[in-house]
Amino acid sequence: MERTARTFTKQREISLKPPCCGTVALDLKSYMMLDRRQAKARFTNYSFQTTQEDQVKTFNIATIPADGIGPEVIEAGVAVLDALAARDGGFSFNFQSFDWGSDYYKAHGRMMPEDGLDRLKGQDAIFFGAVGAPDVPDHITLWGLRLPICQGFDQYANVRPTRILPGISAPLRDRGPGDLDWVIVRENSEGEYAGHGGRAHRGLPEEVATETAIFTRVGVTRIMRYAFSLARARPRRLLTVVTKSNAQRHGMVMWDEIAAEVAAEFPDVTWDKMLVDAMTVRMTLDPSSLDTIVATNLHADILSDLAGALAGSLGVAPTANIDPEGRFPSMFEPIHGSAFDITGKGIANPVATFWTACQMLEHLGQDAPAQRLMKAIEDVCAAGIMTPDVGGTATTREVTNAVIESIRGSNR
Ligand code: IPM
Ligand code: MG
Repeated sequence: MERTARTFTKQREISLKPPCCGTVALDLKSYMMLDRRQAKARFTNYSFQTTQEDQVKTFNIATIPADGIGPEVIEAGVAVLDALAARDGGFSFNFQSFDWGSDYYKAHGRMMPEDGLDRLKGQDAIFFGAVGAPDVPDHITLWGLRLPICQGFDQYANVRPTRILPGISAPLRDRGPGDLDWVIVRENSEGEYAGHGGRAHRGLPEEVATETAIFTRVGVTRIMRYAFSLARARPRRLLTVVTKSNAQRHGMVMWDEIAAEVAAEFPDVTWDKMLVDAMTVRMTLDPSSLDTIVATNLHADILSDLAGALAGSLGVAPTANIDPEGRFPSMFEPIHGSAFDITGKGIANPVATFWTACQMLEHLGQDAPAQRLMKAIEDVCAAGIMTPDVGGTATTREVTNAVIESIRGSNR
């Protein structure tokens, strides 16, 4: 974190921390071209950290465990984060838990209170479990809690790292750790999930429903800049832009054009373009040809499930909903969802939550603890201490304790 502000003042660069994917350095001048106010907000956001250098920094984290196995994995995540803070000594957490979700909905008729976003606004980050219940329609749970937070806080970059963790057997023949190392950047504020559309003549034979995908120049430009910046910060400097401009001739053609425009700002990044259908083939047959990937909300939703499966399990896949400008708290969650079949059994896989905790730490400027946690996760997986969904016999608590032990015993 020290480096962040020094770099800014001396070399006129600013940094953001794309979760567990390496540090992205954005050239200030090109960033200012995007939006002067945003760049200023980000500088303000990160500069506060340097003034705290010699003190113990306390991060205020809102936890929203919500539904299904959410409470079990968030409890595990909090325990691991507290252990990391104790091991480090340079920072601590102040967790505040919010009981929103499907039970709250059944009691109050809404997934979160009307002033929910106001109550989250002052937090440094949000640690989110899972949302969805068998007896509440999915579109209510999703549009009542998770999406209003993502959209209300303009968390436009959804970042999904995927790797084959040691000890996890992945379905691709002859592929192991190192052969698949991707970060999918999902546009998270518009596109096919913008919520634009409607229904008319309900229940009648002539009923009609529209679901309109929204692509804006601002929205596409900022996600492209984020993705190119992230690609540039990773060793291979390689970005694949996923599209479907052969069939979708308006929004997707603009998407391609803007990708090419933004690419000109990043001459040091090698990039290519893939149609989304062909992309599934490439991910399966040639995974090592890919590194950073950017796609629309819908495309990346689908591709990230495929990525999780190819890496061995969706149970370990993390995600971060980032407001790159730092105007609002960003939100960190496992991808796996509520998993009602195993809720309460004590066997939920906490690894996705630990991994997204790494993303949160990086976002908070705590790179070294993030690396320590990632190493602990990998060591515990490599030792075969895993839950049944990835072929092990351990409970949530056993995996959590093993990760905590590894953190306590780590000497770097
Ligand atoms: C994901 C999930 C969600 C999404 C679901 C629960 C709506 O699939 O994080 O990918 O599509 O955003
Ligand atoms: Mg999904």
